[in-house]
Formats: sequence, C-alpha cells, structure tokens
Amino acid sequence: MEKRIAVISGDGIGPEIVKEARKVLDAVCKTYGHTFVYEDVLMGGCSIDACGEPLTEEAIAACKSADAVLMGSIGGNTSTSPWYQLPPEKRPEAGLLKLRKSLNLFANLRPAYLYKELAAACPLKEAVGEAGFDLLIMRELTGGLYFGERHTTVENGIRTAVDTLSYNEEEIRRIAIRGFDVARKRRKKVTSVDKANVLDSSRLWRTVVNEVAADYPDVTLEHMLVDNCAMQLVKDPAQFDVILTENMFGDILSDEASMITGSIGMLSSASLNDTSFGLYEPSHGSAPDISGQNIANPIATILSAAMMLRYSFDLGKEADAIEDAVRQVLTEGFRNGDIWSEGCQKVSCSEMGDLIAARIK
Ligand code: IPM
Ligand code: MG
Repeated sequence: MEKRIAVISGDGIGPEIVKEARKVLDAVCKTYGHTFVYEDVLMGGCSIDACGEPLTEEAIAACKSADAVLMGSIGGNTSTSPWYQLPPEKRPEAGLLKLRKSLNLFANLRPAYLYKELAAACPLKEAVGEAGFDLLIMRELTGGLYFGERHTTVENGIRTAVDTLSYNEEEIRRIAIRGFDVARKRRKKVTSVDKANVLDSSRLWRTVVNEVAADYPDVTLEHMLVDNCAMQLVKDPAQFDVILTENMFGDILSDEASMITGSIGMLSSASLNDTSFGLYEPSHGSAPDISGQNIANPIATILSAAMMLRYSFDLGKEADAIEDAVRQVLTEGFRNGDIWSEGCQKVSCSEMGDLIAARIK
C-alpha cells in the first residue's frame, strides 16, 4: 500500500517525537511491504518565524491533498516566547484551530489506558491503579467556546471580554453518533458529559444525545455533569468506557485522564472528519522546557501513528504491531523520564524510538 502523509513536526519537542514516530512507521513499511511518502508542512511558531503566520493556505492545501496528517506539537512558553506578543489570531495555537476547522475535524478521539506496567506511575490510590482502566474521550473539536464569537471591549474605562458557547443540533448529533459507534466496538457504554444544570447548550446537548441513543438500544447511556466527571475520573476511572463531551470540557478532562495513565506523554489522539482522513497528534503540548534535550517521551506520538494506520489506512494488523511493540518495551522495563520508576531502565527519546521500532513484527 502506498500512502501520502503530511508531517507537521511543529515546535518544542515536536520534531524530536515525530522523528521517532517516523522511525517506527518506517519499520512497519519494511516489515509489511508498504510505502509511506512524507511531506513536511509548517505550522505553529516555526511557521510564524518562516512565513509570518501560524498556518498558510499552502500548508492547508498540502494537508488536504495527503491521505492523513501526522503532527507533533506546536507553541512555546506563553510567558517568554515572542510568539505570544502577537495578536491572538497570529499565535501558534490559532494555526491548529484553523487547521481543525478547515479540515472539518469534528471528532477527536483520545484513548486513555493504564498499562499494568505503569501502575506505579499512576498518581491515584494503589487499588485504583491495580484495577486499571481503559476509556476513550470523544471530544467535539470544531464548535463550542473555541469557535464562538469573541471580543474584548472597553466601556467607561471598564474592560469586558466575551466568549460564546454555541452548538446547533447537527453538530451535537454527528459527534454523538461517533460516540455511540465507537462504544459499540468497545464495552457499549456512553457517558455523556455536560453542564445541563446551568447551560442551555448543555441542555440541547443532552436532548440530542438522548435522541441519538434511541438508535443504539444495545449501548447504555448515562449523563454526568462535568464537575462530577472530573471527580469520578480520579475516584473510579474504571467506570468509564466512552466519555462523550463538548470541546472545552473534553480539553480539560483529557488532560486529567492522561495524567492518571501515568503521564501525559502516553496519550495519543485522532481527529477525524466524515471521511477516512484524519490528523493524528499526541494530546500533550510542545514542552518547551525540555525541548532539544532528547529526553521527551515519544510514545504518545508513536501510538498516534498507530491510530493513523487503523483509522485512516485501515491497517489494523500493522496498528496492532505498533501497540504490541510499545507494550513489549514497557514490559521489558524501559522508560522515559516521565514514566520512570525504581528498578526500570531510563532511556532517551531516540532510544525509545529505536527500541519500539526494533520490536515491530
Ligand atoms: C489540545 C490542546 C489545544 C486545545 C491547544 C493547543 C489549542 O490543548 O489539543 O488539547 O485546546 O485543543
Ligand atoms: Mg488540551
């Protein structure tokens, strides 16, 4: 099979972790006889430096013409980087939001799984870590507060800032369908998370999710308020299968979910539209404080590459091979610094890539 992959290495640790994911993809090509053709695309701070804006029309076109996009991370230190002196729509993150919107990537899948080998790195009570958990956050990605009308005004010397949280029923329906579809392939439970005790957008969310649920009698649906969900995630994460939620809640809950897997360096993600096209990136950021030191954890990006094989290229066996290789390396006791514990062998970013690539079979 031949596929074209647009590669956005981005900023901070982005180039280091993407390099390791490509190493693993090359091992897959060698073992399974595929060809992946890579095209480098600029986005984020590096694009601001080179082109004066975080995402150019050419970059969007390059992504659109590829079969999938593999991404590292974008952005810098928000207190010290000159990128954050620019107006908001010129900053690195604006590039990512524009790309998500331009490619209509409304469905963001963030699986959070606790490897039993990493139980010691889980910050929760020992019994919770030992019980393990395996959940998936289905986050709406092109609506809500992120894309609503916003402005800042000054009236009589008083500054006021406004952000708007708006959803229409079609936006809710299509992400709910994705949530139920994926639950059907898992443990058949959807927890829809909202703030329906306060927000109109959440009340509509709940109504539409109930309507969609009628077509999935085999899937159990429960509703949960987002503040309660934040609490339940640290109390009893094993209760969750699919968490279905809007953009902002999903952003916050997915960081929380990643931390209880041991490290944010373990959490992969896929952002999909209504075709097989997708953008694959780790859920973590660009970690500018550790960039260039070859100490970042590349596993989230490597697992995102596995999601790309599974969802965009329909290469399930090859995706399994990557996930098995990751598990094997963990079982053998190799760890990056963020997931290291007593008795394990600490390895660098590139060593982790080598170890995983060597175990692709
Ligand atoms: C994420 C990130 C982004 C988001 C930022 C970089 C705009 O935090 O993918 O979770 O908020 O969606
Ligand atoms: Mg986030």
